[in-house]
Amino acid sequence: MRFAGRRALVTGAAGGIGAAVVAMLRTEGARVAVTDRQTAGLEAEAHFDGDLCDAGFCDGLPGRAAVALGGLDLLFNNAGIIARGPITDATDADYALTMAVNVEAPFRLCRAAIPIMAGQGGGAIVNTASCWGLRPGPNHPLYVMSKAALASLTQCLGRDHAHQGIRVNAVCPNEVNTPMLRSGFAMRGFDPDRAVAELGETVPLGHIAEPEEIADVILFLASDAARYMTGALLEVHGGKPVQ
Ligand SMILES: NC(=O)c1ccc[n+]([C@@H]2O[C@H](COP(=O)([O-])OP(=O)(O)OC[C@H]3O[C@@H](n4cnc5c(N)ncnc54)[C@H](O)[C@@H]3O)[C@@H](O)[C@H]2O)c1
Repeated sequence: MRFAGRRALVTGAAGGIGAAVVAMLRTEGARVAVTDRQTAGLEAEAHFDGDLCDAGFCDGLPGRAAVALGGLDLLFNNAGIIARGPITDATDADYALTMAVNVEAPFRLCRAAIPIMAGQGGGAIVNTASCWGLRPGPNHPLYVMSKAALASLTQCLGRDHAHQGIRVNAVCPNEVNTPMLRSGFAMRGFDPDRAVAELGETVPLGHIAEPEEIADVILFLASDAARYMTGALLEVHGGKPVQ
């Protein structure tokens, strides 16, 4: 029960990694506010359906979560989208959406959550960045750029808010078996199960990550076991860094 009495807000809670984080936090005693476009199927202490592209929604969310839960100790900026293809295929709308979800929403949520956490004497923020934000993979410039920005924001805030007892870290996964990855295979006409199995053969540990394998590291970063970590970018790739 590492999180007994802790109050958490998780974005992208209905997605692959987000749902695993929510379930594991609640198993370990946390009270959890979930947000996504549609959260009806999720077990949680508070539900906030909405669009992270809506600036007002993001600005108000940490405060609403704190009212619902009686405070806010943990923020998980986990929601993300992926725009695929070379820059010559990218539209203005692709750029705007990528930056809105992957960068602007975490900016707004951190800005609103930090004063709440500081007022309580501390807290922890865990951002879901990507290995690709540290070393770019091919033909995803918008996604890679946005995750690099989130990684940089993590390092900045980790330094700037340590004195308030607020730790800010990021997990940087490589490939994870979630709808984000599987939808890409389906779009390109591949069978997702077969493609995931084949991709797993390229990973030294023998399989791409399951959501729980990333969620375990996210919970570690949020826990007291990581009390001396802040501004860290933790790669979780089964031995397969981006080359
Ligand atoms: N799957 C991978 O291979 C992989 C690898 C590295 C990093 N990541 C990162 O992990 C995080 C979680 O992704 P996932 O793999 O679980 O994908 P996912 O698609 O299953 O989950 C993402 C969730 O974010 C939500 N979301 C997206 N745009 C939103 C918006 N405008 N408003 C509200 N909610 C919105 C979606 O509804 C979805 O539930 C993302 O930040 C992703 O970039 C994933």
